[in-house]
Amino acid sequence: MTKHGFTLFLFSSAVAIATFRDEQEFCENESCNEREFDKSHFYSDVKHCGEIPLALSHKLLDALPLDEVDGNVIRTVKRSVFSESQPSPLKEPLTLAAVSQDVLRNILDLNESVIQNEEFVRCVSGGKLFPGSVPLAHRYGGHQFGYWAGQLGDGRAHLLGEYTNRKGERWEVQLKGSGKTPYSRSGDGRAVIRSSVREFLCSEAMHFLGVPTSRALSLVVSEEPVWRDPFYNGSVIKERGAVVLRLAKSWFRIGSLEILTRTGELDVLRTLLDFVIKEHFKSIATNDPDKYVVFFSRVLNETAHLIAHWMSVGFAHDFVPNTSDDEGRYSIGAQANVGLFNLQKLLEALKPLLTSDQLSQSQQILREYPQIYHQRFHELFKAKLGFLGNEEKDSYVIAFLLKVNISWIVFFSNCTIINSYSFLFIFYYIFNGQTVRS
Ligand SMILES: *[C@@H]1O[C@H](CO)[C@@H](O)[C@H](O)[C@H]1NC(C)=O
Ligand SMILES: *[C@@H]1O[C@H](CO)[C@@H](O)[C@H](O)[C@H]1NC(C)=O
Ligand SMILES: *[C@@H]1O[C@H](CO)[C@@H](O)[C@H](O)[C@H]1NC(C)=O
Ligand SMILES: *[C@@H]1O[C@H](CO)[C@@H](O)[C@H](O)[C@H]1NC(C)=O
Ligand SMILES: *[C@@H]1O[C@H](CO)[C@@H](O)[C@H](O)[C@H]1NC(C)=O
Repeated sequence: MTKHGFTLFLFSSAVAIATFRDEQEFCENESCNEREFDKSHFYSDVKHCGEIPLALSHKLLDALPLDEVDGNVIRTVKRSVFSESQPSPLKEPLTLAAVSQDVLRNILDLNESVIQNEEFVRCVSGGKLFPGSVPLAHRYGGHQFGYWAGQLGDGRAHLLGEYTNRKGERWEVQLKGSGKTPYSRSGDGRAVIRSSVREFLCSEAMHFLGVPTSRALSLVVSEEPVWRDPFYNGSVIKERGAVVLRLAKSWFRIGSLEILTRTGELDVLRTLLDFVIKEHFKSIATNDPDKYVVFFSRVLNETAHLIAHWMSVGFAHDFVPNTSDDEGRYSIGAQANVGLFNLQKLLEALKPLLTSDQLSQSQQILREYPQIYHQRFHELFKAKLGFLGNEEKDSYVIAFLLKVNISWIVFFSNCTIINSYSFLFIFYYIFNGQTVRS
């Protein structure tokens, strides 16, 4: 979904190590946990959204190692999972271009009248901070074009904090396009309208199609000029900056772990992983000696199911079915292969924490991925075609449809477009021209 390949937002973390701004040394072990982390400096000079009743907290910040260096200076960060980073407000006037009513009401427990408040547009675009918010940029690594690219990190996103709603669900609130962070590299920290509209509509559409996904609350558009080369052919044009406020149960990804393994920060890796398991894989016993193997197998299964689901709603544009694999079945397409690649990278990241037995067990689990993917894809495909039974010949029909290459992705995409449009009209209220001037 991004140029870094697929991101798996199944992760969350906290580490029993904290760093302290008023101390030069890092805490290298769990004894640090007992000391209080002074966050008071975060709250000075920050304008708050006093009138928007959305109080955020920061479980992650309390437990995770935080970068010692202040400010948005671009740098290589060590021994931390987050860096504090203030968003850069978009230039006003701002326009609240879209809001998801479902997210507003059913995730954030807000009354729809809140969008009439002129503070709202600033609060959802980084101009002001929700009470309790401590904006953070996450340090992660990853692969680009199949090669290890080293430190990547949130280069234009800010994690504002966590919100636990009245249903007891915990959501992490993030801004995208909200300015430079220590991880911006050569980027300007901004997003343009094109990509932001895509993010807003696609994530909400995927949700209403039943596919697990991040969510989007709002899309704010500014007059701020942002220079982009949309056709990658050297023609730089002026576009307008935009910010999406988006939510996920967690924004951690495989690269969150990978960077720690690559840099040998194994204590941080272990604590991060333990937190992820504790928070997001609650059925895994924390004292299970094989918990990392079980974790790997869960992530693998979820990944296979998720990608099969994407494929079944025509999310891919460039999938080429290949029916000539050894078992006489169609092979997994490009996306499924990227999923497999990512799982290989996850296993590499976990490797230092596994015994040799656990490693071979995990490698065996990895080999089951194509089977899990195929089976799920097959089930979904059958359901689409209305094949209700479990007949052998169904497989032949499906294999045939894939083999004759009838552009079935286009076929299902058309179905999908109809579905998602009707969903969009039902669930979105698009606001135009709600402008705030300072
Ligand atoms: C933890 O680190 C402190 C110094 O930072 C040291 O005094 C202490 O012995 C260490 N504890 C363990 C369990 O390694
Ligand atoms: C939202 O707020 C308005 C104005 O305060 C109120 O009239 C309305 O009943 C509220 N709606 C809900 C669903 O609470
Ligand atoms: C780049 O592509 C766009 C769209 O096809 C075109 O309008 C523009 O002239 C191209 N620029 C160059 C330098 O080729
Ligand atoms: C795999 O994931 C799917 C989708 O979340 C779930 O329904 C299924 O029970 C999982 N299977 C296993 C063996 O965990
Ligand atoms: C299809 O799969 C076969 C066997 O795995 C492979 O040899 C062939 O190159 C693949 N074709 C395409 C177009 O990817």
